[in-house]
Amino acid sequence: MANKPVLAANWKMNPISAKEAGDLVNGILDAAKAQDRVQIAIFPPYIWLLGVLELLAGTNVELGAQNCFWKSSGAYTGEVSAAMLAGICKWVIVGHSERREMGETDDQVAKKAGAALAAGLHVIICVGENQEQHTAGKAAEVVAAQVKAAMAEVAADDSERLVMAYEPVWAIGTGKNADPEHAYRTMRLIRKAAGNLIGQKAGQRLRVIYGGSVNSQNIETYVELPECDGCLVGGASLKADEFSKMINMTAAVYSAGAV
Ligand code: 13P
Repeated sequence: MANKPVLAANWKMNPISAKEAGDLVNGILDAAKAQDRVQIAIFPPYIWLLGVLELLAGTNVELGAQNCFWKSSGAYTGEVSAAMLAGICKWVIVGHSERREMGETDDQVAKKAGAALAAGLHVIICVGENQEQHTAGKAAEVVAAQVKAAMAEVAADDSERLVMAYEPVWAIGTGKNADPEHAYRTMRLIRKAAGNLIGQKAGQRLRVIYGGSVNSQNIETYVELPECDGCLVGGASLKADEFSKMINMTAAVYSAGAV
């Protein structure tokens, strides 16, 4: 196992209160602190970042944002720049399908990834086919095109700070997690497509993770895959007990040297 696995908790637009956000963080710290095999990062909404940052001080849990803007400052009402986030967070997610569905383009994803890497952030770029594309057998074609577009501003030197997340849109929040064999084939393709852009050596250094209805019942089937360097978890990361279980299970798989 060349790359340390990452378990990323994308809270999306949850929870509603600072108190709940604090409880959620405190609820996963015991499990997180007890292991050093897995890199754990949590991605709260912008408004909870500073509060969560305080709770994470001195722990092995890292902090990230769910989005960023590519300009560093200026008249961009409602936006938060990668440069601003870099003072607070280690990570940022770009190109999540829920943002793409709201109109975010490949070009914007590329600019966000480029700005975030330039600001020193670790970046998760999300790619994945939708149901229609999946049914039409076009997953590989769609995902390869998304990788190429999103990585337009990525250089080989960025590879250690880059994570590519394969998140099939039809698997997100549906309970229909992808068949591990399909996930494996697509994650392998993502690494190859990335390697074609920044060199195969750098392609081996970046991490490729899976997301889409991951929970404690199925996480092992992904983290055991040779191409899989971890998971991006949505709904199941909002339950401290469930996410703690997933931390323990992931750490156990990697400790056993199965991957
Ligand atoms: P779910 O785990 O809720 O399916 O969400 C996955 C996701 O979109 C993580 O970014």
